Amino acid sequence: MNPTASNSGFRPAGVLLAALLTIVFFIADTGSTNAQNEGKQLFEKNCTVCHKIGGGKLVGPELMGVTQRRDKAGYFKFIKNSKELIDAGDPIAVKVYEENNKIPMLTFTQLSDNEINSIIDYIDKWEPEKEKVFTVDVNKKDGFSHTEILRGERLFFGLIPFEKGGTTACVSCHNTITNDTLNWNPSARELAMAFMEKDGMNMYKSMGEPTSDVMRKTHGEYKLTDQEVFYIAAFLSEFNQTGEKPHKTFPNKLMLFILFAVLMTLALVDLIFTKLIKYKVVHLVVILAGLGVHFNLAVVEAQSLSRTQGYAPDQPIKFSHKVHAGDNKTDCRYCHSFADYSKSAGTPSNNVCLNCHKVVLSGRNSGKFEINKIHRAAKSGKPVEWIRIHNLPEHVFFSHAQHANAGKIACETCHGAVAEMNIMKQVEDLSMGWCINCHRSTKVNFKDNQYYSTYLKLHEELKSGKIDSVTVEKIGGLDCMKCHY
Ligand code: HEC
Ligand code: HEC
Ligand code: HEC
Ligand code: HEC
Ligand code: HEC
Ligand code: HEC
Ligand code: HEC
Repeated sequence: MNPTASNSGFRPAGVLLAALLTIVFFIADTGSTNAQNEGKQLFEKNCTVCHKIGGGKLVGPELMGVTQRRDKAGYFKFIKNSKELIDAGDPIAVKVYEENNKIPMLTFTQLSDNEINSIIDYIDKWEPEKEKVFTVDVNKKDGFSHTEILRGERLFFGLIPFEKGGTTACVSCHNTITNDTLNWNPSARELAMAFMEKDGMNMYKSMGEPTSDVMRKTHGEYKLTDQEVFYIAAFLSEFNQTGEKPHKTFPNKLMLFILFAVLMTLALVDLIFTKLIKYKVVHLVVILAGLGVHFNLAVVEAQSLSRTQGYAPDQPIKFSHKVHAGDNKTDCRYCHSFADYSKSAGTPSNNVCLNCHKVVLSGRNSGKFEINKIHRAAKSGKPVEWIRIHNLPEHVFFSHAQHANAGKIACETCHGAVAEMNIMKQVEDLSMGWCINCHRSTKVNFKDNQYYSTYLKLHEELKSGKIDSVTVEKIGGLDCMKCHY
């Protein structure tokens, strides 16, 4: 507003009116875009599984222009409960039904009248997305300048403010340090990896238009400019190379092992043959230190290799048994389908995940980020590289079929309360003593099992009442050869 104009009393009423009108228009405008947003969100949540707008037929018919075919009230009833209309013989409903091979649509009686109206409005007003014009190079993934990286880092850590609002530092959710408790938010490293991946996430798109409920909730406060996203992209690109990497200690330990082996040999050789160093205490210190290091490495490695009780590594996808086997009650055998027939229980392939995740596109805790990884892996044709947790030594024979099927032992007896685990972990130590103890104390279903018909003596003893049950031990469960190759 021009101060001289109001000071001089120049048409103050007009100015006031204009201001008022602007406010009214502003409210009206955001009101209608909010309604359109709500319609969009509801459509994405309830309808995109079966319908596209402007993308052809899916399970249900293409919906572009559908609202021109009959009045809104007609579609209102149709969406709420199409079956009712069809049963009542409504001509258009019956025609649509027959055109679509008599696949009925779901009913949506749980949606309120307002919600259905906003969905219809959304379909009605739908327009193809205009290609957004960016002011920055959105395809740039490396070769950022030092200042760009630095700006990005400061924005990410909340050290400088965002231009258009949003006060929470990105780093408060997207950790730059890895820790082993299940944090559902993607870490900064994961963002960086997803960004750098070929055909990875499109940050400009997802920051501009959050696509999951989780992201709307967590990112709602931000309105990042393209330039700001660009800086953050620069930071993530850099972080991908320099940030804390998942631990890979083994080669380092191996180097240490070899180094001290060489030093000790040199010390011994000098002590006995070459005698270059005069003071024997030097040899002694080198050899003692070497022995100490070797002993330490041997103990640590041995423990972590064979006895991995409690082992719970971070997996490439935050897959939760609690969400699947617990909350959604999916049977273990749906995913570990070999357990009854083979030695190994098996790990599910991408396709098993996609059976459900073609439709379930976002999760309550992690939004789309983790589930997107399945889709990207499937697209690239690579299996997800799950980290193996339970691992018996080579010389031991163990079969799931024998235990889970023949022995009818519940998975939980050996694997613990899996349905409560967000992160899978090894509960038992898998030691020989553990196997033996159970074989000593567990009774087998001896009578009705074909497999044991050859144990004539035991059958006779059972019949005569000499023994009242048969343990695994009695059928040879303690024979070395049964468990060792
Ligand atoms: C499980 C799949 C499925 C879901 C989910 C679904 N629909 Fe449908 N829809 C269909 C099928 C199949 C038809 C055609 C057969 C029929 O009429 O029952 C259809 C028909 C329609 C029609 C009529 C199209 C025409 O050509 O006249 C409209 C409108 C429609 N759906 C809107 C919606 C809306 C809005 C939602 C979300 C609230 C939705 N549908 C969710 C499967 C689905
Ligand atoms: C929806 C698919 C799915 C269901 C259902 C499921 N799992 Fe899993 N399971 C997986 C995946 C994927 C992994 C590998 C990632 C991990 O370790 O969390 C896995 C890993 C495991 C492991 C560790 C494997 C190893 O590397 O040593 C065990 C044990 C296991 N599951 C047991 C169970 C049990 C018991 C149930 C039923 C209570 C069950 N699972 C239900 C998908 C599933
Ligand atoms: C008697 C104990 C026992 C029972 C019962 C049992 N497991 Fe296992 N499970 C093991 C042992 C031991 C290993 C390690 C095997 C190895 O390293 O060869 C293992 C490994 C696994 C693995 C990872 C390696 C593989 O075999 O693919 C999965 C997955 C698994 N179990 C799932 C299950 C499921 C699902 C059930 C129930 C249907 C089940 N287990 C029942 C003891 C058991
Ligand atoms: C039987 C159906 C089914 C299968 C098979 C399945 N999922 Fe899921 N998954 C679900 C459902 C349902 C949800 C919960 C969605 C929600 O939070 O509302 C879910 C959620 C998730 C989530 C998000 C968790 C959260 O709470 O944010 C991830 C990640 C996930 N699944 C990964 C996988 C992977 C990996 C596989 C294959 C090994 C798989 N799922 C197989 C049904 C399935
Ligand atoms: C309150 C917690 C929170 C804050 C603060 C936050 N995020 Fe996120 N962010 C999430 C969660 C949760 C997801 C996963 C949701 C999803 O993918 O559906 C996510 C996802 C993302 C993604 C992945 C989008 C995709 O397409 O997969 C990017 C990129 C991202 N955030 C960047 C940022 C940046 C940059 C900031 C700071 C300006 C920020 N986040 C602040 C919680 C947060
Ligand atoms: C929770 C109890 C339990 C644990 C733990 C257990 N087993 Fe068993 N095991 C059984 C039962 C019960 C049977 C008999 C199954 C049947 O009815 O055929 C069996 C049978 C076997 C057999 C076949 C024996 C025969 O006479 O044919 C082998 C081999 C075996 N177990 C190996 C192992 C190994 C190796 C381990 C440890 C890694 C182990 N088991 C841990 C309960 C257990
Ligand atoms: C019920 C199955 C089972 C039977 C029966 C069994 N073992 Fe084992 N044995 C194991 C398992 C499992 C391991 C691996 C333990 C580990 O890695 O900590 C093992 C490990 C060993 C080892 C290696 C030492 C070690 O701690 O790694 C030796 C030696 C061994 N067994 C000898 C025997 C002899 C001898 C017999 C017969 C008297 C026998 N076992 C019977 C399951 C069995």
